[in-house]
Parts: sequence; structure tokens; C-alpha cells
Amino acid sequence: RVKLYDHFSFPYAFPGNVKDHLKKIATARIRDTDVLLSTYPKSGTHWVREIVSMLLRGKAEYSSDPLHSIDFYDSSYIEKLQSPRILQSHLPFRYLPNEIKRQGRIIHVSRNPKDTAVSLYCMLKKLTYMSGSFSGSFHALLQCIFYSDKFSYGNWFDFVKEWDKVMRQENRGCKILHLEYEEMKKDLKSNVRKVADFLSVDCDEEFINMVAEKCTFKNMKNGKEANPQPYWKDCTFDGRMPIFRRGDVGDWRSWFSDKENDRFDKEYARQMKDQQISFRYYI
Ligand code: A3P
Repeated sequence: RVKLYDHFSFPYAFPGNVKDHLKKIATARIRDTDVLLSTYPKSGTHWVREIVSMLLRGKAEYSSDPLHSIDFYDSSYIEKLQSPRILQSHLPFRYLPNEIKRQGRIIHVSRNPKDTAVSLYCMLKKLTYMSGSFSGSFHALLQCIFYSDKFSYGNWFDFVKEWDKVMRQENRGCKILHLEYEEMKKDLKSNVRKVADFLSVDCDEEFINMVAEKCTFKNMKNGKEANPQPYWKDCTFDGRMPIFRRGDVGDWRSWFSDKENDRFDKEYARQMKDQQISFRYYI
């Protein structure tokens, strides 16, 4: 279930009238200290949010905050948050707040599309109907996100191509740090350092190492699942936090049939031939 507007599929949970809501997002007041985390769903949002949060608080301890999504922008809530705020969105660049587009700080995280699709499918299967579950097969999900634009947050290729174009623009105003999920898996410390430098966080290597250690998949899964946000109880069938599944690169190999894989690779070659962004499927 989605809300269609402006040739884009917004999540059904988007509040009220989409046009009015988009206007609220576009005109949201942004602070110099804000950082916006941008991802296509299931590309590592919670992972990077935790790293950013630890760096900004100067503490290698898990945050107790929920994700502060601007997609469901509620001004009275977002405006009351203390600085520095970590905002989060799955929206295409064009719908972001104007002030962020002009002069904000954005961390954009990308993940290879095959693993993203598997991660999304597994998460949707855990959600209750009211929270946006998906009753179709894995094959049907691939159809939705790669070969149509009728799924919540639209077509994966469209999302990635728009962000790729923005990241290539030289005089775009906002500052963007691009992180890749697969590179983070390969070398988390260097990527934590990149984030610290981007946010001008002055810290030594010992602290970087502590953050990286706290943010390994195993440690995050244990730490975060022990204290889940209360809302997960109502969203999932088993009442548990459905975010930390495998945290691997290449799990797609157990899911894509040869035929699905061939079809995807052909579509990828067709759609992405002029793009600069690239994706890694194995480490
Ligand atoms: P999998 O379902 O493949 O395991 P998001 O936060 O955008 O919803 O993304 C969730 C995906 O990121 C899940 O992928 C999850 O396991 C993975 N992830 C979360 N924390 C991670 C970490 N510390 N290291 C590696 N992957 C992580």
C-alpha cells in the first residue's frame, strides 16, 4: 500500500495529504549542526546512525533514541530535539528540506542492490499488516523495487541515479559524504574516521577504534536487541527488533535464482551505464 503523488510512491504511513506534507518537509528549519542520513531502505541506516551518534556524543555507547525520520515530519517533535540532531530520510534528494539541499550536511549510504532486496524482503516478512507487511514472494518483491515504481519509496534505480547525479554536481551547496556498506564491512575503522572528519569531530584513534568495535554487527545486534525501541513490539509478529539479521555481503546468492540474477544484471547494465556510482557484491 502506498500513496501515489507526483509520479512517486510514498509510504502509506505518510501523514495526511502528500502535497501538504511535502511542503512541510521542504520548508523545515535546519540547523548548522544537523546531519541528515540518507539511504534507500535496508542499506545500513541504523548502522551509520549509531556511528554518527557515538561520534557526536563523544561516547562509545549505544544511543537510546529512535531514528528521527523527517519523512514523517512532525514539526513539534523534530523542532524540540536537542542539537546536534541526526535526521534520517529515505526520500529522493528532490524532496529534502530546501535548507539541507542548499547548505546542509548529508551522509548518503549505498548498498549493493541484491543484498538490499534480500534484506528488505526479510524485514517486510516480519512486519504486521498495519506496519506495512508484504504478502508476496521474493520474486514479486524484485518486480516491485527493480522493475516498477509502485513500491514504497519507489524504484531502486531511480533513487540511486538521482543521488548519483547530485553527488557528481560540483557546486551543489550541501556537503555530502558517500559511504558504501561493503566498504564499511571491509574496513570499519577507516570509515568511522571518514565520518568523524566529515563532521569535524576531533577525536583520537583510540576512540575511533572503540566506536568501530561497538559497531561491529555482532556487538550491535547484541547491544541493540537487548534494549529495543518500544514501537517494535507493535510492528512485528514476534515483537522483536527486525533490523539486525545477518549483516553480510553476498547473502543474495542464496536467494536469487539464475534467471532472476540474469534479468537483474541485464537491467543493471541498461540503467546504470552512464552512472558513476558502483556496487560491490562480495568482499
Ligand atoms: P541484513 O538484513 O542483510 O542483515 P537499515 O538499517 O537501513 O534498515 O539496514 C538494515 C541492514 O543493515 C540489515 O541487513 C542489518 O543486518 C544491517 N546492519 C545493521 N547494523 C550492521 C552492522 N553493525 N554491521 C553490518 N551490517 C549491519
